[in-house]
Amino acid sequence: MKILFYDTKSYDQNTFNNALPQFPGLEIDYIKSDLDPRTAALADGFDAVCAFVNSDVGTKTLEILHGKNIKLILMRCAGFNNVDLEKAHQYGMRVMRVPGYSPEAVAEHAMALALACNRRLYKAYNKVRENDFSLSGLMGFNFHTKTAGIIGTGKIGAAMCRICHGFGMKVIAYDVYQNEALKAFVEYVSLEQLLEQSDLISLHCPLMDSTYHIVHLDTIKQMKDGVILVNTSRGALVNTEDLIEGIRMHKFAGVGLDVYEEETENVFEDRSDEILEHSTTARLLSFPNVMITSHQGFFTREALQAIAETTLQNATDYLAGKESPNDVK
Ligand code: NAI
Repeated sequence: MKILFYDTKSYDQNTFNNALPQFPGLEIDYIKSDLDPRTAALADGFDAVCAFVNSDVGTKTLEILHGKNIKLILMRCAGFNNVDLEKAHQYGMRVMRVPGYSPEAVAEHAMALALACNRRLYKAYNKVRENDFSLSGLMGFNFHTKTAGIIGTGKIGAAMCRICHGFGMKVIAYDVYQNEALKAFVEYVSLEQLLEQSDLISLHCPLMDSTYHIVHLDTIKQMKDGVILVNTSRGALVNTEDLIEGIRMHKFAGVGLDVYEEETENVFEDRSDEILEHSTTARLLSFPNVMITSHQGFFTREALQAIAETTLQNATDYLAGKESPNDVK
């Protein structure tokens, strides 16, 4: 089976090539362009495409892929909010993903963001590099005995609960389904209670209609003053305009984001003044208590290896006509 691999980075190519010998029958061609309606036609002559988190697998792209006889979409990530599933299934395409490759990779990054914001590590790093060893502007608060509020307690949220528990925090959580295994040290509460009680709020639910802009002006107002907000899940869980208003109201001690609403718009590729002037992400970056990383939560050796192995296993299961729990239905 021939797979066209979109949006290739050198680390992808290395980890997939290392895993490939364990999966006979699969061939991969790597290209740098990401999948979207302009590049979909490049899949001519292939059996499957492999796409990533910000690839545009919408209606138009699928229409072109269907025209090229593509039968399998291999998402090498957990999220599939950029895939028009209804259309894919209508065309008889199978969509497969990697539901959980290393929840700890993302949860550890969420805690890294929380700590970096709390103790102003980015500021401390820059100050000391300028030979400024003063402590002004660096005061944080102890996480120990404070309350962590985790929204979404699936694989990553559960890992974050364990980390916060390890820090000696009281851990409360909100989820539409409760995870029984966590109840020994996590108390489930309503969303309102979580917002009101938490010193650290970390988002770990997927982006869906019901979670779109779950953080908006009203929910921000319900939060404690001096709260730290961390989002490593999906940018559109947070209404960025409202977040900016919340920051201006001095609601947050810190905001740590690994994901942001403009991620798919390539705002920072062009970097023209005109684009940056209207960019909410650029506005966010102007605040001293905001730290943004570029969707790197998943980016550990262990996670990349697991992504490669699961993606290639998905392709092998497809070839064998096997059902898989990694099918996106
Ligand atoms: P999961 O499916 O194991 O857990 C998601 C949890 O959210 C489930 O327990 C579900 O019941 C809950 N949920 C659903 N609707 C909810 C609602 N309205 N309110 C509260 N909770 C709700 O997913 P997993 O693996 O833990 O991943 C979570 C998210 O993390 C993914 O959807 C993805 O957006 C993001 N992610 C980010 C990465 C990064 O590099 N920053 C890498 C991988 C995933």
